[in-house]
Amino acid sequence: MAAATDRRIDKLIHLLAANTTVVVPGPKIASEIGVTRSTVWVWIEKLRALGVEIKGHPSSGYQLQSLPDLLTPSLVRADLAGSEIGHKIVHYFQVDSTNSIASALAAKGAPHGTVVVAEEQTSGRGRFGRTWYSEKSSGIYASIILRPPLPPAAAPILTLAAGVAAHAAISAATGLPVDIRWPNDLLVNGKKVCGILTEMSAELDRLHAVVLGIGINVNHRQMPPELAAIATSLRIEGGKPYPRIKVLVALLKELDRHYRLLLEAGNAAIAGRWEAASSFARGRRITVRAGSEPFVATTDGLDRSGALRIRRDDGREELLVSGEVMEVK
Ligand code: BTN
Repeated sequence: MAAATDRRIDKLIHLLAANTTVVVPGPKIASEIGVTRSTVWVWIEKLRALGVEIKGHPSSGYQLQSLPDLLTPSLVRADLAGSEIGHKIVHYFQVDSTNSIASALAAKGAPHGTVVVAEEQTSGRGRFGRTWYSEKSSGIYASIILRPPLPPAAAPILTLAAGVAAHAAISAATGLPVDIRWPNDLLVNGKKVCGILTEMSAELDRLHAVVLGIGINVNHRQMPPELAAIATSLRIEGGKPYPRIKVLVALLKELDRHYRLLLEAGNAAIAGRWEAASSFARGRRITVRAGSEPFVATTDGLDRSGALRIRRDDGREELLVSGEVMEVK
């Protein structure tokens, strides 16, 4: 398993971010974070290589030119207030898949609300065995460990709650018009900007741990040619870059809020919010791919478990519990 980011690098970033108006001497940094001056220099160079603008050199000291667009724990937690989700954040510069790391941590007993976040994934995973394009420092690649006091049958509504939370977070952080395609693809102007991969371990009557893996295309300048027709980024649609940290903090707060809402108010509260946020909820012509031959149907709202009610063109009504839907153009 790759090594998580050294906590002392996190401290270094935090120290520089808390002192942006002054040059912080190298020896002071070294003694405050507990490493040698040469290690400070090596880490400063590493951060510069990641695009963090730091002025200065070992003899004078260092000064951040602007707040870095990194998702390191101390920067994220500074804005999280009392959110239980994110009270523990494990950061990686590069990882195969944050979901794999989070599943391994969950198996070792990591608590509810633990978040694994990476600047880059080398084998990001999507639904249906697809890969998730995970360009370095452009997107948000995060996996959240939940330990809900709920039965396995609650997994679909939990996933919808995550979709509603991501919808609220991206809308608030960017002002862009965000839509949800069942079950929880987030679209801007008809193209996907965010996907959610839920993985879990469960006993017959109780969910042990749920890993919500969330990928958001934030600052990609362009999507790879094979994805460009179906996927986009917030930057491409908004015409400007967005601070990833703002989107991530909003996401974790909204996840916390919607998780509590699910536990306190039940499935109907989440289903209602999903329906309000999605243009796919009712009266939408869709192509359904769910194992058998694709077919066309019309949507008719969610049932309380989170399944999508659909009406086939021959009048038969069905509940869709898994699979994917595409709009009929
Ligand atoms: C989808 O197919 O729509 C789901 C994509 C989920 C991608 C995220 S990125 C963070 C987490 N780690 C992974 O390997 N996948 C999820």
